[in-house]
Amino acid sequence: MSDSVAVSIQRSVSVTIDGVEVAAPEGSSILQTCRSQGIDIPTLCYLETLTPVNTCRLCMVEVQGSRTLVPSCSRKIEPGMVVITNSDRVSESRKMVLELLASSVDMSIVSDELAGWMELYQVDKERFGPLAAPSQLGERETMRAGHHHKSDGSRAATVFEPVKIDNDQYVRDYSRCVLCYRCVEACGTDAQNTFAIALGGRGFEAHITTEFDVPLPESACVYCGNCVAVCPTSALMFKIEHDMRQDQSWDESRQTVTRTICPYCGVGCNLEIHAQDNRIVKVTSPLDHDVTNGMLCVKGRFGFEFINS
Ligand code: SF4
Ligand code: SF4
Ligand code: FES
Repeated sequence: MSDSVAVSIQRSVSVTIDGVEVAAPEGSSILQTCRSQGIDIPTLCYLETLTPVNTCRLCMVEVQGSRTLVPSCSRKIEPGMVVITNSDRVSESRKMVLELLASSVDMSIVSDELAGWMELYQVDKERFGPLAAPSQLGERETMRAGHHHKSDGSRAATVFEPVKIDNDQYVRDYSRCVLCYRCVEACGTDAQNTFAIALGGRGFEAHITTEFDVPLPESACVYCGNCVAVCPTSALMFKIEHDMRQDQSWDESRQTVTRTICPYCGVGCNLEIHAQDNRIVKVTSPLDHDVTNGMLCVKGRFGFEFINS
């Protein structure tokens, strides 16, 4: 009996992007195809290490024959597809998505990539009215679905919430949350399989929450911090960073980032050690590492405080 070898043949699909005919492997998304050609498209809920959840609508492009814009992160290419990524309609849609988010969410500390997109599309955070003052009441979580009070029109309606500080590892500031679901995906099947957090509420009251809104120490959370790692708006933040921002000592220009291997076990996760004034202030992991794809466990992510002791 001869050994058989499984061979998978991937067909190539030909599409036209911004007037140029290109070929890409069957099953590629429009976004992957565009990025392989050096055409970048803004994304928010999409991260290359997570399954697209298709919620933010920032990555929209035009597809000839389609009445509406389509999300490039999750729409697969088809033979003969004609895609336009840079029309006025596309730009206006992306700008509007960012302005609607910025009108209700505090987007003052976002990822460099997102800040770049906001600058490119000249996002006016106050397009829908001056932002309302922060609420200390946690109003959103005490509302019942369908009972959102309309703003009086002089201020944009916001989702401000007090920061949740209930453990020593990381804080949750959902006034910064754009509901991109990245943290839910990372806590779920895409990485951690812990399912400690999910979406609660609907409409304006929608928010990321633990089961029955319990504090994090009472939830299923194992403090891997993988949710913190993927959050694009600093809604989830290391407690050290939060405290340093509060006392205005956080200064990225004085920080170094050193890549090393986690010493705790034999998996060999790559760590990026962020240090300021000879103190470790944060640990991240590179997205392009093929063992961990940016994910760590509690030891690699948070097990460094003894060094600072
Ligand atoms: S720290 Fe880990 S387990 Fe806890 S909520 Fe975040 S992803 Fe889930
Ligand atoms: S907490 Fe961060 S990662 Fe999670 S949904 Fe909100 S913005 Fe996205
Ligand atoms: S990045 Fe495509 S819908 Fe969010």
